[in-house]
Amino acid sequence: MSTPSILSALKKLRILLSRPEKIKALWIAIFAVISSFFEVITASLIVVFAQVLSQPEIGLTYLRKLGITAELSPGRTILYFAVAVGSIYFVKNLVAAVEIFFQNFSIQQMCYNFKNKLLNKYIEADYGFYLTRNSSLGAQIVGNDTELMFNSGMSAFASIISESIVFCILISLIVYLNPSLAIIIFTLAGLIGLLLTKIILPKFYKFGQQLQQASLMGFQTLLQFFHAFKEIILLGKREQFIKAYAYQAFKKAHVQAWQTSLNALPRVIIEVLFVGLFVIAIGILALEHDSPSQMMGVLGGYLYAGFRLMPGLNRIINQLNLFKSSIPPIERVYTDYTTIAQCQTYKDIPVFHFNTTISFKDVSFKYINTNTNALQNINFEIKKGECIGIVGETGSGKSTVVDTLLGLLTPQSGAVLIDDVFPVTTVQWHQKIGYVPQTLYLLDDTVENNIAFGETTINQDALALAIDAAQLTKFINKLPDGIKTTVGERGVRLSGGERQRIAIARALYRNPEILIFDEATSALDNETEAKLMETINKLRKDRTVIMIAHRLTTLKDCDRILLMNKGCLDRIVNYKDLIKSPKKEKTNA
Ligand SMILES: Nc1ncnc2c1ncn2[C@@H]1O[C@H](COP(=O)(O)OP(=O)(O)OP(=O)(O)O)[C@@H](O)[C@H]1O
Ligand SMILES: [Mg+2]
Repeated sequence: MSTPSILSALKKLRILLSRPEKIKALWIAIFAVISSFFEVITASLIVVFAQVLSQPEIGLTYLRKLGITAELSPGRTILYFAVAVGSIYFVKNLVAAVEIFFQNFSIQQMCYNFKNKLLNKYIEADYGFYLTRNSSLGAQIVGNDTELMFNSGMSAFASIISESIVFCILISLIVYLNPSLAIIIFTLAGLIGLLLTKIILPKFYKFGQQLQQASLMGFQTLLQFFHAFKEIILLGKREQFIKAYAYQAFKKAHVQAWQTSLNALPRVIIEVLFVGLFVIAIGILALEHDSPSQMMGVLGGYLYAGFRLMPGLNRIINQLNLFKSSIPPIERVYTDYTTIAQCQTYKDIPVFHFNTTISFKDVSFKYINTNTNALQNINFEIKKGECIGIVGETGSGKSTVVDTLLGLLTPQSGAVLIDDVFPVTTVQWHQKIGYVPQTLYLLDDTVENNIAFGETTINQDALALAIDAAQLTKFINKLPDGIKTTVGERGVRLSGGERQRIAIARALYRNPEILIFDEATSALDNETEAKLMETINKLRKDRTVIMIAHRLTTLKDCDRILLMNKGCLDRIVNYKDLIKSPKKEKTNA
């Protein structure tokens, strides 16, 4: 089974990181090298110290090599070496502490930066992307995958560098001290390496994939469980939903148990190997040097190297496993990051004003993965200040017309233009529009924050006007905390009509030039709707209004009404003609 290599994942990481982040990653690597350098110095010093302990005169020879010629007693020699070893240990651990802080803070900062960068990519994505993207998947990629990419991937990478350096140098030390033992270690490490690359690492890639899948499905089931609670209760599907989640949770737990156990296994194997090697080392040494005191010095080195080398080897294997299991998240982040189609928001076109017309010029549009056009050769013009109604059977393309006018959907042929020149896909165009969608979304926040939507300093005058115009005043006065009352997730604590009026107030709050209502009053009673229409009529003076409605009376003040039929613009009529039209029985007027 071939799985993507660690190198290919590193290449992807390199592409995902910005230049300053790459420099930071380089610093993490440099720190890893420095701390491994200290690790090796202390390891060598311990070997020397073990020799000095058994034969203090060797210490004097070392000191002479350093240019210190004083004649010291054995006790003093041991003391000075002990102080030297202690000091180096202190410095080494100081460096290690700094490295830990630097590495963790840098990785977390990179993770945080990257999440922002990724969200910025998503927010710039074409609207079509959101029509096909599952929200749980998006949340998992930003929330979960990026964290795994940095917390597991990057930190594992840093550990692999430093542990490998220490391992290589300590192995060299053993080669220098006793080549025959080194051969045994190389053979064993080679065998472990083979086992690792052929059997264990691909398993960890698979674990990563399975965890990713189970997390996504579990998260999605959980989200649906909380969102569809009403349907679940009424359709009697409690058990099915709990079972569906339990199944995913079990899969995840099962994989995690395997992953953790397999990751702990090398330690057990290595410990057995180490003890075996240690006995072999004693055997070889006993044959080569018969005196126990001579063996002590060399054995001390082995002991340290062994105690440092074997856990080091274990850590390398653990971190390789960890890195391998974070390759699927890296790949998913990489794919999204590099392939999300960016919409053209034309941020840098000159400021324009809407002066005369919005024109649909032979617009045809087809949703992806569908066979028929949702809009077919649509041609019409809306003059500034007009009030336009759109009617038609369900599925006839009314919302699609509005979404192309909003610049959210890009027609495959034809164009929607402002004053015959400007495209509708611009930020500037969006700023001129107040839009009430057919399926509205309320934040789990206060009424005022839902109306001001994302604004930190709320314009109280505009808020009061919007509330009044949207016929919300009476309702808000009855609320326990007035405009500070929270509406619940997706507005669950409100009635359908109250939600709709909050959405209308949100559209009016910006005091837009163009108002677009997509079935915005469908949940209101006749009286409230009539009052709302009255205020909208007052607001109409210098505004352009586009209204989709099934209830024909909603459109009685419209100048012209577009009749949509199966994606085509059937006719353009006025209200009087419309109510005489034989198609009116299809509506609920
Ligand atoms: N994201 C989508 N992907 C594929 N097809 C879609 C998508 N959205 C809408 N459609 C299809 O496009 C056609 C037009 O849909 P649209 O929402 O414009 O209808 P509508 O006239 O607004 O209907 P309604 O009165 O029910 O709101 C329908 O056949 C619908 O199934
Ligand atoms: Mg619609």
